[in-house]
Amino acid sequence: MATAAVPPGSFHLPRSGDPRSQGLLSSALHLPLRAATALLAPGSGEGLLGLLPGWLRNLLPGWDCDRDMPDMFGKVVMVTGANSGLGFQTARLLARNNAHVVMVVRDVDKGKKAVSDILSEFSHAKLSLMQADMGSLRSVKRLADDFLASSSPLHVLINNAGMLAPGPFETTEDGFETTHAINYYGPLYLTLLLLPRLRACAPSRVVNMASMGEVFGTIHWNDLRGVDMGSSGMKAYGASKLYTIMASRDLNRRLRGTGVDVFAVHPGIASTPGEVKSDKSYAMAVMAFVASRLHGQSELRGALPSLFAATDTSLQGRGGLYIGPNPLGLQLFGWGGWNTVARSPMSWEARDAVECKKLYDATRGVLDGAAVAAGLGSVPVTHFRDAQEEAAAREQGAEALRKGGKGGLPLEAASPTPTAMAQ
Ligand SMILES: NC(=O)c1ccc[n+]([C@@H]2O[C@H](COP(=O)([O-])OP(=O)(O)OC[C@H]3O[C@@H](n4cnc5c(N)ncnc54)[C@H](OP(=O)(O)O)[C@@H]3O)[C@@H](O)[C@H]2O)c1
Repeated sequence: MATAAVPPGSFHLPRSGDPRSQGLLSSALHLPLRAATALLAPGSGEGLLGLLPGWLRNLLPGWDCDRDMPDMFGKVVMVTGANSGLGFQTARLLARNNAHVVMVVRDVDKGKKAVSDILSEFSHAKLSLMQADMGSLRSVKRLADDFLASSSPLHVLINNAGMLAPGPFETTEDGFETTHAINYYGPLYLTLLLLPRLRACAPSRVVNMASMGEVFGTIHWNDLRGVDMGSSGMKAYGASKLYTIMASRDLNRRLRGTGVDVFAVHPGIASTPGEVKSDKSYAMAVMAFVASRLHGQSELRGALPSLFAATDTSLQGRGGLYIGPNPLGLQLFGWGGWNTVARSPMSWEARDAVECKKLYDATRGVLDGAAVAAGLGSVPVTHFRDAQEEAAAREQGAEALRKGGKGGLPLEAASPTPTAMAQ
């Protein structure tokens, strides 16, 4: 891990987006230019929202990262995909607020540039750079091993890296459809590998990046690797994000009582470089362009759900929530409005706790098989709550046997004891 900064002397809070402290005349003169910039390049700053005077902005409801984000001094936060788009803004503002940010990137040169961009803006930023391809289990394992070997604490893991619908069908070395691997299995593997450290640093959090695209997803029970889909388009993307929401919810249930909260978030539609990386037909490209200008928000606003879930103290012990803007409206001209509100996922499966458990169990089994096949060993078992339930059932069973009856649940071969998992 390359440490690239010094600890901050004091907490200071430069504004996050467009400068709003100009005089009235200067503001008026710059207004048309800023309006044009916001419309033509909505990913920058705060989009049209940045045109509002500060006093009016402060009246808007919702969490404001300048006003409401706590000082993160002493906290270590890992952000994957931290060199670009939402991940960059997330890393940038966490660093501004004094967190030690471990920026995970797949391309080290892009990562170095992102580190230097943040440092040039916030010289107090404490940043480390690590490399991993989230689509490769071997690479994710190496990342986790290197991090765990560093003995660094870990308070928040933000699984942000991901791709929108890349289009051409591809499978990974581990036998997953690419979107499934990068958006779902890689982040799940990383989470499970880092869980012991997160638990040791509790209260801690995992924030998983989902998407409104979950609405296009269904569970492909017979094809959980996505390899029979034949395309890496919206269907695969939707499934990967639906699984993300469902597994977040179920993992949180299993971790209840451990001090680790797991959240899923979504950014609505945000104008990021990710938009151009996705493969689109001409009609889709036009639709995406119009949607992102009228309905979309800036990178910075799109990062708010992750920042809120990662930092807000009111969320302690409230894992399992799905946080993001209203999917249907109120984003007009970039106003994310209620970006930081708990929502109900649109897919019924993600609202059903039993389906979530089933999906988690099934995909965890698939992940385990792939990790073993890759020679990486079994995925650590972290079903803390299930272990507690099973221990209780075992007790009940023993009690029933003592009384001459039968009882208790059959135990999973791999069920861990709480002590084993606490290592
Ligand atoms: N923008 C939206 O409207 C929107 C909506 C819903 C959900 N999301 C989700 O938000 C997250 C961030 O996307 P974004 O819009 O900010 O796009 P972005 O600017 O393209 O950022 C994606 C980040 O993930 C990294 N990444 C991609 N594949 C990777 C891999 N195999 N291994 C490691 N890192 C990888 C990218 O690295 P490179 O720079 O090297 O490509 C980049 O740093 C994604 O999970 C995306 O699905 C975005």
